[in-house]
Amino acid sequence: MIGTLPTTRTSPFDPPEALAEIRAERPVTRLAYPDGHEGWLVTGHAQARAVLADPRFSSRPELRHHPVPGPAAGGTGQPSPPGMFTSMDPPDHTRYRRLLTGQFTVRRMRQLTGRTEELATGLLDAMEAGGKEADLVSAFAGPLPALVICELLGVPDSGRDRFQRQARALSSLEVTREEQVAAYLELREMMRELVTAKRAAPADDLLSGLTAGDLTDDELAGVGFTLLGAGLDTTANQLALGVFALLSDPDAARARALRTNPAEVVEELLRYLSVIPFLLRVALEDVELDGHTIRAGETVTVSIQAANRDPLRFAEPDLLDLGRAAGGHLAFGHGIHQCLGQQLARVELLAGLPALFERFPGLRLAVAPERVPLRTDMLIYGVHALPVTWE
Ligand code: HEM
Repeated sequence: MIGTLPTTRTSPFDPPEALAEIRAERPVTRLAYPDGHEGWLVTGHAQARAVLADPRFSSRPELRHHPVPGPAAGGTGQPSPPGMFTSMDPPDHTRYRRLLTGQFTVRRMRQLTGRTEELATGLLDAMEAGGKEADLVSAFAGPLPALVICELLGVPDSGRDRFQRQARALSSLEVTREEQVAAYLELREMMRELVTAKRAAPADDLLSGLTAGDLTDDELAGVGFTLLGAGLDTTANQLALGVFALLSDPDAARARALRTNPAEVVEELLRYLSVIPFLLRVALEDVELDGHTIRAGETVTVSIQAANRDPLRFAEPDLLDLGRAAGGHLAFGHGIHQCLGQQLARVELLAGLPALFERFPGLRLAVAPERVPLRTDMLIYGVHALPVTWE
């Protein structure tokens, strides 16, 4: 009998324990999917990299089976709508990726660094003015990436509240399924309006830059929506879960490390926390991997969280070691779909984390760690809320 994907965590920061055993014995192994499909699970770092770099594996959503049951599994069974290139294969993916890469320029990233720092300061000012306690997710970790994406896309100030409200509803557990669908439709409509506005009056932002190319309005709106979907919950949870991990150190030495070597701290938090626990691929033809034959049509779950804790790649992988060189982790994926926004994500983490601990040196959890609500029910892992307090 083949097993199902282990999902039960015994610590907020560690992957499900069973994954370590599986990785040690069978870094590539069969996996039973809830719909009856018999596919694969890859937990070794080298094997995960090999799958993600191999063009014989597809990212198309209509081909794949999902390893986790329930509504969080998402997936429509339909091909990607226009512009949603994360789940396209070459040559469709290549066309978008080239255009987008040309927009993530060093100059734009430098500009966004300054704006991100200002936005972080503004949010911290509001937190400080609000008293001695806050939910870090709704006060800081959520709004910062949302505002940065508004900057990137060129959403005008007047549209930002509406944009943030709908983006929040999209990933909130407190809204009904109908409200979520309504938020999705409204955001898509907002993207369409934005594209029309940028075509009429281009400015110095990513969407305006893209209007010069051959993408249709629908495709452009899809690209805008993709960036929102890819850059919001990922960064928000990396920020919030990162703060939770740093605050879990009793002598606050970890938070202090942010002052001396912020870039290493951010990289190690990315490796250690792996907020995207797994990626899915489907074999387009028979592929030999680690002595196994993955047959055409079989889904492979690439466990990023297991690969990032592989002792064959990282010494003492279960240790949060803020001094280590964590480069080579797979938190941003690997291969042709490797995170397009990774420099921007680093900009946000490097602006957000040190500024938070500088502003509130006495920052601590306002509840017992076991009362922090974990996103074990979501495809992107992290915390639903993080109540914090300061002197
Ligand atoms: C800590 C924050 C982030 C993490 C952990 C993260 C992680 C990832 C991962 C694992 C992938 C690969 C998906 C795959 O192979 O199927 C990816 C792709 C992508 N990410 Fe990120 N991401 C983050 C932030 C961002 C930001 C801020 C943006 C942009 C605003 C962004 C935009 C994208 C896009 C557009 C893709 C698709 C690239 C492609 O298919 O060619 N991400 N990200």
